[in-house]
Amino acid sequence: MKISDSVRYAGVNDHKVDLFEGQYDVPNGMAYNSYVIMDEKSVVMDTVDQNFTDEWLANIERELSGKKPDYLVVSHMEPDHSANILNFLKKYPETTVVGNAQTFNMMGQFFDLPDNMNKLVVKNGDTLEIGKNTLTFVFAPMVHWPEVMVSYMTPENVLFSADAFGKFGALDVEEDWACEARRYYFGIVGKYGAQAQNLLKAASGLKIDVICPLHGPILTENLSYYLDLYDKWSSYTPENEGIIIAYASVYGHTKEAAELLKELLEKKGAPKVSITDLARDDMAEAVEDAFRYDRLVLATPTYNGDVFPFMRTFIDALLERNYQKRKIGIIENGTWAPMAAKVIKGMFEKSKDITFVEPVVTVKSALNSESRAKLEELAEEMK
Ligand SMILES: [Fe+2]
Ligand SMILES: [Fe+2]
Repeated sequence: MKISDSVRYAGVNDHKVDLFEGQYDVPNGMAYNSYVIMDEKSVVMDTVDQNFTDEWLANIERELSGKKPDYLVVSHMEPDHSANILNFLKKYPETTVVGNAQTFNMMGQFFDLPDNMNKLVVKNGDTLEIGKNTLTFVFAPMVHWPEVMVSYMTPENVLFSADAFGKFGALDVEEDWACEARRYYFGIVGKYGAQAQNLLKAASGLKIDVICPLHGPILTENLSYYLDLYDKWSSYTPENEGIIIAYASVYGHTKEAAELLKELLEKKGAPKVSITDLARDDMAEAVEDAFRYDRLVLATPTYNGDVFPFMRTFIDALLERNYQKRKIGIIENGTWAPMAAKVIKGMFEKSKDITFVEPVVTVKSALNSESRAKLEELAEEMK
Protein backbone atom coordinates (compact mmCIF):
# COMPACT_ATOMS: atom_id res chain seq x y z
CA MET A 1 0.00 0.00 0.00
CA LYS A 2 1.38 3.36 -1.07
CA ILE A 3 0.97 6.16 1.48
CA SER A 4 2.96 8.96 -0.11
CA ASP A 5 5.44 9.10 -2.99
CA SER A 6 8.02 7.25 -0.93
CA VAL A 7 6.20 5.65 2.00
CA ARG A 8 4.69 2.15 1.87
CA TYR A 9 2.72 0.21 4.48
CA ALA A 10 4.22 -3.00 5.88
CA GLY A 11 2.25 -3.58 9.09
CA VAL A 12 0.06 -6.45 10.25
CA ASN A 13 -3.38 -7.00 11.78
CA ASP A 14 -3.74 -9.01 14.96
CA HIS A 15 -7.10 -10.70 15.55
CA LYS A 16 -5.75 -13.24 18.02
CA VAL A 17 -4.64 -10.92 20.81
CA ASP A 18 -6.85 -11.46 23.86
CA LEU A 19 -5.80 -8.48 25.96
CA PHE A 20 -3.64 -5.75 24.44
CA GLU A 21 -0.72 -4.89 26.73
CA GLY A 22 -2.05 -7.54 29.09
CA GLN A 23 -5.12 -5.55 30.08
CA TYR A 24 -7.14 -3.91 27.30
CA ASP A 25 -10.02 -5.65 25.59
CA VAL A 26 -9.69 -5.21 21.84
CA PRO A 27 -12.89 -6.58 20.29
CA ASN A 28 -11.72 -5.54 16.82
CA GLY A 29 -8.13 -6.67 17.24
CA MET A 30 -5.04 -4.54 16.92
CA ALA A 31 -2.79 -3.27 14.15
CA TYR A 32 0.98 -3.05 14.51
CA ASN A 33 2.06 -0.62 11.84
CA SER A 34 5.41 -0.63 10.13
CA TYR A 35 6.49 1.37 7.11
CA VAL A 36 9.06 1.22 4.35
CA ILE A 37 10.46 4.42 2.87
CA MET A 38 11.80 3.97 -0.66
CA ASP A 39 14.16 6.82 -1.47
CA GLU A 40 17.81 6.74 -2.55
CA LYS A 41 18.26 5.00 0.77
CA SER A 42 15.58 2.61 1.94
CA VAL A 43 14.33 2.82 5.48
CA VAL A 44 12.19 0.48 7.57
CA MET A 45 10.22 2.24 10.28
CA ASP A 46 9.78 -0.09 13.29
CA THR A 47 9.07 -3.80 13.52
CA VAL A 48 5.93 -5.56 14.82
CA ASP A 49 4.72 -7.91 17.54
CA GLN A 50 6.48 -11.27 18.09
CA ASN A 51 3.59 -13.32 16.67
CA PHE A 52 3.92 -11.83 13.18
CA THR A 53 7.58 -12.32 12.27
CA ASP A 54 7.10 -14.18 8.98
CA GLU A 55 4.19 -12.11 7.75
CA TRP A 56 5.99 -8.87 8.54
CA LEU A 57 9.31 -9.92 7.00
CA ALA A 58 7.40 -10.91 3.86
CA ASN A 59 5.72 -7.50 3.79
CA ILE A 60 9.09 -5.78 4.14
CA GLU A 61 10.61 -7.87 1.37
CA ARG A 62 7.69 -7.13 -0.93
CA GLU A 63 7.83 -3.38 -0.33
CA LEU A 64 11.60 -3.24 -0.71
CA SER A 65 11.20 -4.90 -4.12
CA GLY A 66 14.70 -6.28 -4.26
CA LYS A 67 16.47 -3.42 -2.48
CA LYS A 68 18.36 -3.92 0.74
CA PRO A 69 17.20 -1.88 3.72
CA ASP A 70 19.80 0.75 4.65
CA TYR A 71 18.20 1.77 7.94
CA LEU A 72 15.84 0.43 10.56
CA VAL A 73 14.44 3.29 12.65
CA VAL A 74 13.26 2.27 16.12
CA SER A 75 10.73 4.80 17.42
CA HIS A 76 9.67 2.87 20.48
CA MET A 77 11.08 -0.16 22.30
CA GLU A 78 7.79 -1.55 23.63
CA PRO A 79 7.68 -5.16 22.37
CA ASP A 80 4.57 -4.70 20.20
CA HIS A 81 6.93 -2.71 17.94
CA SER A 82 10.39 -3.93 18.75
CA ALA A 83 9.98 -7.70 19.09
CA ASN A 84 11.41 -8.44 15.66
CA ILE A 85 14.56 -6.32 15.68
CA LEU A 86 16.81 -9.33 16.07
CA ASN A 87 14.89 -11.39 13.50
CA PHE A 88 15.20 -8.48 11.10
CA LEU A 89 18.96 -8.24 11.69
CA LYS A 90 19.35 -11.96 11.06
CA LYS A 91 17.86 -11.44 7.62
CA TYR A 92 19.44 -8.03 6.93
CA PRO A 93 22.64 -7.91 9.06
CA GLU A 94 24.09 -4.93 7.23
CA THR A 95 21.25 -2.59 8.07
CA THR A 96 22.07 0.36 10.33
CA VAL A 97 19.76 0.54 13.32
CA VAL A 98 18.72 4.09 14.21
CA GLY A 99 17.73 5.03 17.75
CA ASN A 100 18.72 7.23 20.64
CA ALA A 101 20.93 6.34 23.60
CA GLN A 102 17.92 5.13 25.63
CA THR A 103 16.68 3.06 22.69
CA PHE A 104 19.93 1.15 22.55
CA ASN A 105 20.03 0.66 26.33
CA MET A 106 16.61 -0.93 26.23
CA MET A 107 17.46 -2.93 23.11
CA GLY A 108 20.40 -4.45 24.99
CA GLN A 109 18.05 -5.42 27.82
CA PHE A 110 15.53 -7.09 25.52
CA PHE A 111 18.03 -8.78 23.18
CA ASP A 112 21.42 -10.34 23.00
CA LEU A 113 22.57 -8.01 20.25
CA PRO A 114 25.23 -8.98 17.68
CA ASP A 115 28.60 -7.29 18.37
CA ASN A 116 28.92 -6.11 14.81
CA MET A 117 25.50 -4.42 14.70
CA ASN A 118 25.61 -1.13 12.80
CA LYS A 119 24.21 1.61 14.97
CA LEU A 120 23.37 5.23 14.45
CA VAL A 121 22.76 6.96 17.75
CA VAL A 122 20.76 10.14 17.21
CA LYS A 123 20.11 13.16 19.39
CA ASN A 124 16.95 15.21 19.56
CA GLY A 125 16.64 17.24 16.35
CA ASP A 126 19.21 15.23 14.39
CA THR A 127 18.54 14.67 10.72
CA LEU A 128 19.20 11.83 8.33
CA GLU A 129 19.29 12.48 4.60
CA ILE A 130 17.93 9.58 2.62
CA GLY A 131 17.73 11.09 -0.88
CA LYS A 132 14.91 13.40 -1.92
CA ASN A 133 13.70 13.26 1.66
CA THR A 134 15.22 14.02 5.03
CA LEU A 135 14.15 12.53 8.35
CA THR A 136 14.27 14.67 11.48
CA PHE A 137 14.12 12.87 14.81
CA VAL A 138 12.08 14.60 17.49
CA PHE A 139 12.18 13.07 20.94
CA ALA A 140 8.84 12.54 22.65
CA PRO A 141 9.95 11.36 26.09
CA MET A 142 7.22 9.71 28.14
CA VAL A 143 4.66 9.61 25.36
CA HIS A 144 4.50 7.07 26.91
CA TRP A 145 8.00 5.53 27.35
CA PRO A 146 11.20 7.53 27.85
CA GLU A 147 12.96 6.53 24.61
CA VAL A 148 10.08 7.40 22.28
CA MET A 149 10.94 9.52 19.28
CA VAL A 150 8.89 10.57 16.30
CA SER A 151 10.31 11.13 12.83
CA TYR A 152 9.30 13.95 10.56
CA MET A 153 10.01 13.49 6.87
CA THR A 154 10.33 16.42 4.49
CA PRO A 155 9.51 17.43 1.80
CA GLU A 156 6.71 14.84 1.78
CA ASN A 157 5.61 16.14 5.21
CA VAL A 158 5.01 12.77 6.79
CA LEU A 159 5.01 12.47 10.58
CA PHE A 160 5.83 9.02 11.93
CA SER A 161 4.19 9.61 15.30
CA ALA A 162 5.02 6.42 17.28
CA ASP A 163 2.11 5.50 19.59
CA ALA A 164 0.63 9.01 19.40
CA PHE A 165 -2.52 9.15 17.24
CA GLY A 166 -2.83 5.39 17.57
CA LYS A 167 -5.96 3.47 18.39
CA PHE A 168 -7.21 0.02 19.24
CA GLY A 169 -8.63 -2.05 16.37
CA ALA A 170 -7.14 -3.79 13.34
CA LEU A 171 -7.08 -1.97 10.01
CA ASP A 172 -9.40 -4.42 8.27
CA VAL A 173 -12.30 -3.43 10.54
CA GLU A 174 -14.29 -0.23 9.98
CA GLU A 175 -15.05 1.65 13.17
CA ASP A 176 -15.23 5.15 14.58
CA TRP A 177 -11.73 6.58 15.04
CA ALA A 178 -12.33 8.78 18.08
CA CYS A 179 -14.00 6.15 20.26
CA GLU A 180 -11.15 3.65 20.17
CA ALA A 181 -8.42 6.29 19.90
CA ARG A 182 -9.76 7.97 23.04
CA ARG A 183 -9.91 4.70 24.95
CA TYR A 184 -6.36 3.97 23.80
CA TYR A 185 -5.11 7.45 24.67
CA PHE A 186 -6.56 7.60 28.18
CA GLY A 187 -5.69 4.00 28.92
CA ILE A 188 -2.09 4.08 27.79
CA VAL A 189 -0.90 7.68 27.48
CA GLY A 190 -3.39 9.50 29.79
CA LYS A 191 -0.95 9.99 32.65
CA TYR A 192 1.44 11.89 30.39
CA GLY A 193 -0.69 14.84 29.30
CA ALA A 194 2.09 17.37 29.84
CA GLN A 195 4.49 15.33 27.69
CA ALA A 196 1.88 14.88 24.96
CA GLN A 197 1.33 18.65 25.04
CA ASN A 198 5.07 19.14 24.47
CA LEU A 199 4.93 16.88 21.44
CA LEU A 200 1.93 18.79 20.06
CA LYS A 201 3.83 22.04 20.52
CA ALA A 202 6.76 20.64 18.57
CA ALA A 203 4.38 19.43 15.86
CA SER A 204 2.48 22.71 15.64
CA GLY A 205 5.38 24.35 13.83
CA LEU A 206 5.51 21.66 11.15
CA LYS A 207 3.53 21.32 7.97
CA ILE A 208 2.07 17.82 8.25
CA ASP A 209 0.24 16.14 5.38
CA VAL A 210 0.25 12.56 6.65
CA ILE A 211 0.43 11.04 10.12
CA CYS A 212 1.73 7.47 10.27
CA PRO A 213 1.12 6.11 13.78
CA LEU A 214 2.23 2.72 15.09
CA HIS A 215 -1.40 1.62 15.60
CA GLY A 216 -4.60 2.42 13.77
CA PRO A 217 -5.21 4.02 10.40
CA ILE A 218 -2.85 6.34 8.56
CA LEU A 219 -4.30 9.82 8.83
CA THR A 220 -4.29 11.78 5.61
CA GLU A 221 -7.25 14.15 5.69
CA ASN A 222 -8.70 16.72 8.04
CA LEU A 223 -5.67 16.44 10.32
CA SER A 224 -6.79 19.38 12.48
CA TYR A 225 -9.64 17.19 13.74
CA TYR A 226 -7.18 14.68 15.20
CA LEU A 227 -4.76 17.32 16.43
CA ASP A 228 -7.60 19.20 18.19
CA LEU A 229 -8.79 16.05 19.93
CA TYR A 230 -5.25 15.28 21.07
CA ASP A 231 -4.91 18.82 22.36
CA LYS A 232 -8.14 18.47 24.38
CA TRP A 233 -7.25 15.05 25.72
CA SER A 234 -3.72 15.92 26.74
CA SER A 235 -4.78 19.18 28.41
CA TYR A 236 -7.51 17.32 30.35
CA THR A 237 -10.14 19.57 28.82
CA PRO A 238 -13.57 17.91 28.69
CA GLU A 239 -14.43 17.06 25.11
CA ASN A 240 -18.23 17.02 25.54
CA GLU A 241 -20.82 18.17 28.02
CA GLY A 242 -22.22 15.12 29.68
CA ILE A 243 -22.42 13.00 32.77
CA ILE A 244 -21.07 9.54 33.38
CA ILE A 245 -22.53 7.66 36.32
CA ALA A 246 -20.11 4.97 37.45
CA TYR A 247 -21.48 2.60 40.03
CA ALA A 248 -20.64 -0.53 41.94
CA SER A 249 -23.39 -2.46 43.70
CA VAL A 250 -23.47 -5.54 45.91
CA TYR A 251 -27.18 -6.42 46.01
CA GLY A 252 -28.59 -3.87 43.56
CA HIS A 253 -29.65 -1.05 45.87
CA THR A 254 -26.81 1.26 44.83
CA LYS A 255 -27.48 0.33 41.22
CA GLU A 256 -31.12 1.32 41.68
CA ALA A 257 -30.07 4.72 43.03
CA ALA A 258 -27.65 5.21 40.11
CA GLU A 259 -30.34 4.31 37.58
CA LEU A 260 -32.86 6.60 39.23
CA LEU A 261 -30.37 9.46 39.05
CA LYS A 262 -29.92 8.80 35.33
CA GLU A 263 -33.67 8.95 34.84
CA LEU A 264 -33.97 12.19 36.82
CA LEU A 265 -31.10 13.79 34.92
CA GLU A 266 -32.64 12.85 31.60
CA LYS A 267 -36.04 14.19 32.70
CA LYS A 268 -34.41 17.46 33.60
CA GLY A 269 -32.86 17.68 30.14
CA ALA A 270 -29.23 17.00 31.07
CA PRO A 271 -26.86 16.54 28.13
CA LYS A 272 -25.69 12.99 27.39
CA VAL A 273 -25.91 10.69 30.44
CA SER A 274 -24.07 7.39 30.35
CA ILE A 275 -24.02 4.77 33.08
CA THR A 276 -21.54 2.01 33.75
CA ASP A 277 -21.32 -0.94 36.13
CA LEU A 278 -17.69 -0.94 37.21
CA ALA A 279 -17.72 -4.64 38.06
CA ARG A 280 -19.20 -5.80 34.75
CA ASP A 281 -18.55 -3.25 32.02
CA ASP A 282 -15.22 -2.44 30.42
CA MET A 283 -13.26 -0.36 32.93
CA ALA A 284 -11.17 1.27 30.18
CA GLU A 285 -14.39 2.50 28.57
CA ALA A 286 -15.46 3.99 31.92
CA VAL A 287 -12.09 5.75 32.27
CA GLU A 288 -12.41 7.04 28.72
CA ASP A 289 -15.89 8.45 29.40
CA ALA A 290 -14.80 10.04 32.67
CA PHE A 291 -12.21 12.03 30.71
CA ARG A 292 -14.55 12.68 27.81
CA TYR A 293 -17.33 14.36 29.80
CA ASP A 294 -17.27 17.26 32.22
CA ARG A 295 -19.29 15.62 35.01
CA LEU A 296 -18.95 12.35 36.91
CA VAL A 297 -21.11 10.64 39.50
CA LEU A 298 -19.62 7.94 41.70
CA ALA A 299 -22.09 5.58 43.37
CA THR A 300 -20.74 2.94 45.70
CA PRO A 301 -21.48 0.94 48.83
CA THR A 302 -19.26 1.38 51.85
CA TYR A 303 -17.15 -1.78 52.03
CA ASN A 304 -14.67 -2.76 54.76
CA GLY A 305 -14.63 0.87 55.84
CA ASP A 306 -13.68 1.87 52.28
CA VAL A 307 -15.37 2.06 48.88
CA PHE A 308 -16.24 -1.11 46.96
CA PRO A 309 -13.08 -2.67 45.39
CA PHE A 310 -14.07 -1.97 41.75
CA MET A 311 -14.75 1.65 42.68
CA ARG A 312 -11.31 1.95 44.26
CA THR A 313 -9.70 0.51 41.13
CA PHE A 314 -11.65 2.98 39.00
CA ILE A 315 -10.76 6.02 41.12
CA ASP A 316 -7.12 4.90 41.23
CA ALA A 317 -7.16 4.74 37.43
CA LEU A 318 -8.47 8.32 37.29
CA LEU A 319 -5.97 9.62 39.85
CA GLU A 320 -3.06 7.90 38.12
CA ARG A 321 -4.04 9.78 34.95
CA ASN A 322 -4.28 13.18 36.67
CA TYR A 323 -8.06 13.45 36.62
CA GLN A 324 -8.92 17.16 36.90
CA LYS A 325 -11.16 20.00 35.70
CA ARG A 326 -14.35 18.08 36.45
CA LYS A 327 -17.40 18.11 38.73
CA ILE A 328 -18.09 15.03 40.83
CA GLY A 329 -21.32 13.97 42.51
CA ILE A 330 -21.46 11.15 45.06
CA ILE A 331 -24.00 8.53 46.01
CA GLU A 332 -22.86 6.44 48.97
CA ASN A 333 -24.55 3.46 50.51
CA GLY A 334 -24.02 1.95 53.95
CA THR A 335 -26.10 -0.19 56.25
CA TRP A 336 -24.40 0.68 59.54
CA ALA A 337 -21.60 3.19 58.94
CA PRO A 338 -21.81 4.85 55.50
CA MET A 339 -18.46 6.50 54.84
CA ALA A 340 -17.78 6.04 51.13
CA ALA A 341 -18.24 9.78 50.46
CA LYS A 342 -15.56 10.65 52.98
CA VAL A 343 -13.19 8.11 51.44
CA ILE A 344 -13.87 9.41 47.92
CA LYS A 345 -13.29 13.04 48.88
CA GLY A 346 -10.06 12.01 50.58
CA MET A 347 -8.88 10.18 47.46
CA PHE A 348 -9.29 13.30 45.29
CA GLU A 349 -7.79 15.63 47.90
CA LYS A 350 -4.67 16.37 45.85
CA SER A 351 -6.44 16.56 42.48
CA LYS A 352 -6.48 19.87 40.63
CA ASP A 353 -9.72 21.67 39.95
CA ILE A 354 -12.21 19.08 41.17
CA THR A 355 -15.53 20.36 42.50
CA PHE A 356 -17.77 18.10 44.56
CA VAL A 357 -21.41 18.72 43.89
CA GLU A 358 -23.70 18.87 46.92
CA PRO A 359 -25.65 17.21 48.27
CA VAL A 360 -23.93 13.90 48.76
CA VAL A 361 -26.71 11.33 48.59
CA THR A 362 -26.53 8.82 51.41
CA VAL A 363 -28.56 5.66 50.96
CA LYS A 364 -28.95 3.61 54.11
CA SER A 365 -29.34 0.07 52.74
CA ALA A 366 -32.15 0.87 50.29
CA LEU A 367 -33.72 3.96 48.74
CA ASN A 368 -36.43 5.68 50.78
CA SER A 369 -38.32 8.95 50.42
CA GLU A 370 -35.52 10.92 52.02
CA SER A 371 -32.75 9.59 49.76
CA ARG A 372 -35.02 9.90 46.71
CA ALA A 373 -35.48 13.56 47.52
CA LYS A 374 -31.71 13.99 47.81
CA LEU A 375 -31.25 12.31 44.42
CA GLU A 376 -33.69 14.83 42.97
CA GLU A 377 -31.59 17.65 44.47
CA LEU A 378 -28.35 16.16 43.15
CA ALA A 379 -29.92 15.81 39.69
CA GLU A 380 -30.96 19.47 39.83
CA GLU A 381 -27.38 20.50 40.64
CA MET A 382 -25.74 18.28 38.03
CA LYS A 383 -28.10 18.54 35.06
FE1 LIG B 1 3.67 1.84 23.53
FE1 LIG C 1 2.22 0.57 20.73
